Amino acid sequence: QSLSHEHTFGFATKAKEVLLIPSVETLQYYLDSIQTSSYLILGEGSNTIFLEDYTGCIFKIAIKGIDVKHTQDDFIISVGAGENWHTLVSWCLQKQIYGLENLALIPGTVGAAPIQNIGAYGLELAKFVKSVEYLDITTGGIKALGNLACNFGYRDSIFKRELMGKAVITKVVFKIPKNWQPITHYGELTALDNPTAQDIFNKVVEVRKAKLPDPKELGNAGSFFKNPIITVESYAALKTKWPTIPSYQVDDLTVKIPAAWLIDTLGFKGRKIGGISCHIHQPLVLTNDGTGTGKELLLLARQIRDKVQQEFSIVLENEVRLMGSDGAIIL
Ligand code: FAD
Ligand code: EPU
Repeated sequence: QSLSHEHTFGFATKAKEVLLIPSVETLQYYLDSIQTSSYLILGEGSNTIFLEDYTGCIFKIAIKGIDVKHTQDDFIISVGAGENWHTLVSWCLQKQIYGLENLALIPGTVGAAPIQNIGAYGLELAKFVKSVEYLDITTGGIKALGNLACNFGYRDSIFKRELMGKAVITKVVFKIPKNWQPITHYGELTALDNPTAQDIFNKVVEVRKAKLPDPKELGNAGSFFKNPIITVESYAALKTKWPTIPSYQVDDLTVKIPAAWLIDTLGFKGRKIGGISCHIHQPLVLTNDGTGTGKELLLLARQIRDKVQQEFSIVLENEVRLMGSDGAIIL
C-alpha cells in the first residue's frame, strides 16, 4: 500500500498494509493478532520519513474524542491520540481555553505530541500535560504516566527512550490554568503589545506560513535536525572563531545553538541533490520536490551533518525518524 500520503515528506514508498486504528479495542485486537510480523505505530507522518518500502504493517492511530472538565482553577481536557493537534489548538481558542496558541499549526496528532514534547515560539507541550495514557504492548493493559514521569526535555521524553516501541499513546490529558498568561518572549512575538490569545495564534500562524514550507505543496518533515545543546565552555571557544554565532541559554552550564545558523553559515541554503533541497528560507528544513529519493535525502543530510561536525565540532542529531525497510535507520 502506498505511503505517499501517510508521511509529509511524500516519498512514494510502500508498506505491506496501512490499518486504521479507531479505538483501543481495535489496537488490542491487531497487536494480539499480528504477533511475529513487524509493525509501526503512526500518526500523521509529519516526523517520520519512509526512505524505502517498509516490509511491515502501519497502524495509523485514529482514536478520537475531546472531553473537558473544570476544577476551580483549571480546565482538564482529555483528548484521543488520533485528534489533529492544530484542530485541538483552534478548538480550545474557540472555547476560550487559552494557552496552547504558541503551538498553532504544528502538524500531526495529539498522540505523537508528547513523544518529542513538541515546542515552538517559547512554549513546549510539557507545560500543559497532566498525564499521558498508553497501551503497554508487553502486557496489553492501559497505563498512565503523570507529567514528571514522562521525563520531558527538549524534543525528548520517556516515549523516545525507555518506552520506545513498548507503548502506544491512546490519550493525552491536559491541565490548562484558567488564569491565562501570554508567552511572548520568542522572536516575532516580542513585538506584540498586550496581545490576546487570538493575536498570538494569528502571529504564530503568519510567521510559520512565511518561513516553513507547507507539506501539501512541498514535501518536508519540519526541522530535520535538532538544535544542538553544548557547554558554555565550548560555546565560548566557538565564539572566538565565529563571533556572531547565536545561542539561547538552557541553564547555567549549557546553551542551545540554532542549527539553522550553522547550516546557513556553511552555505547549504538552497543546496540540492536530485529532488532534495535545503530550504531557502529555513535551512533546517530539507524538502522533497516530488522527485526526490531516500538515497538523495541521506546523502544531503550526511553532507550537512559531516560539514557541521568538521567546522564547528558539533554533532547534529536528526529530529525526524528515518525508516528503512525493516525499521528505524540511524543517519
Ligand atoms: P508521526 O510522524 O506519525 O510519528 C512520530 C513518531 O511517533 C514515530 O516514531 C511514531 O512511531 C510515533 N508515534 C506516533 N503516534 C504514536 C502513538 N499514538 N503512540 C506511540 N507512538 C506514536 N515539531 C515541533 O516540535 N515543533 C514545530 O514547530 C514543528 N513544526 C513542524 C512543521 C512542519 C511543516 C512539519 C512537517 C513538522 C513539524 N514538526 C514540529 C514535527 C511534527 O509536527 C511533530 O513531531 C508531530 O508531533 C508529529 O506528529 P505525527 O502524528 O505526524 O507523528
Ligand atoms: N537562522 C539562520 N538562518 C536562517 C534561519 C534561521 O541563521 O535562514 C538562525 C537565526 O539565528 C534564527 C535562528 O536560526 O534566530 C532560529 O530560527 P527559527 O526561529 O526559525 O527557529 P529554529 O531554531 O530553526 C526551532 C524549532 C522549530 C520551531 C521554531 C520556532 C527545532 C529543531 N526547531 O526552529 O520546530 O517551530 O524553533 O520555535 O527546535 C520542528 O521541530 O520541526 C520545528 C519546525
